[in-house]
Amino acid sequence: MFKKFSHEKIEKNSILLLILTLITVAIGGLVEIVPTFLIKSTIEDVKGVRPYSPLELAGRNIYIREGCYNCHSQMIRSLRSEVERYGHYSLAAESKYDHPFQWGSKRTGPDLARVGGKYSDEWHRLHMADPRAVVPESVMPGYPFLERRPLDYRNIESGLRALARAGVPYDDEHIANARADLEAQATPDADIDGLMQRYPKAQARDFDGNPKMISELDALIAYLQMLGTLVDFSAYENADFRQ
Ligand code: HEC
Repeated sequence: MFKKFSHEKIEKNSILLLILTLITVAIGGLVEIVPTFLIKSTIEDVKGVRPYSPLELAGRNIYIREGCYNCHSQMIRSLRSEVERYGHYSLAAESKYDHPFQWGSKRTGPDLARVGGKYSDEWHRLHMADPRAVVPESVMPGYPFLERRPLDYRNIESGLRALARAGVPYDDEHIANARADLEAQATPDADIDGLMQRYPKAQARDFDGNPKMISELDALIAYLQMLGTLVDFSAYENADFRQ
């Protein structure tokens, strides 16, 4: 009797119904959302994932500046067709240091999440200057000015500091050495011990074919060549996702 009475009261009072509905939905929402912030395994720790080196970060900034994400995604989905074309599907941890992430939503061109090592630096140089020189049917615009423009990295320390505030584990040592690390990575025969210790698997060489200048193209190719190369997937061979 009491039950029937109370429910009728709720149904007939739209404000009360609204408030109680909101409370119910909020409880449901909290139960779903709160654990994702508390459980450590929400983003699995994956061996090999590290913050970008200063040169890669500068390249990433050019990637964003030029709007490459308008045509390229960086997120391989766990579908057979994707995995066969691009490689292992993307893991959450692989973009955990990306602010903002570059998953993208449009693929006029292919996914770039694992493009690192797929082509030579020379291929990238030709392709960035004039895509049709290497892929005759390409609709990608050319970016021939990148190799002529010196990279402006005067603010690279602030870039690292800003990311550190957002939770990327750059410490004082990374920030103090940012400029030296950037130069070492793009200069042949430079001393790269500190760079390699701070950024394991960093590839150091003259990326744009012009050792006299660190260009925007150096940074962009350094970034493209590291995409998807940090995680050693042979260690995950037994996790067969295609069963
Ligand atoms: C208008 C769309 C468009 C924009 C903008 C664009 N691309 Fe592309 N990109 C393509 C298309 C289409 C292809 C495939 C044909 C080719 O290889 O040129 C491609 C291919 C590529 C490839 C080769 C990928 C592979 O696996 O074969 C790379 C690397 C690449 N783009 C990098 C970039 C970068 C870096 C930028 C920004 C500076 C950029 N693209 C901007 C459309 C675009």
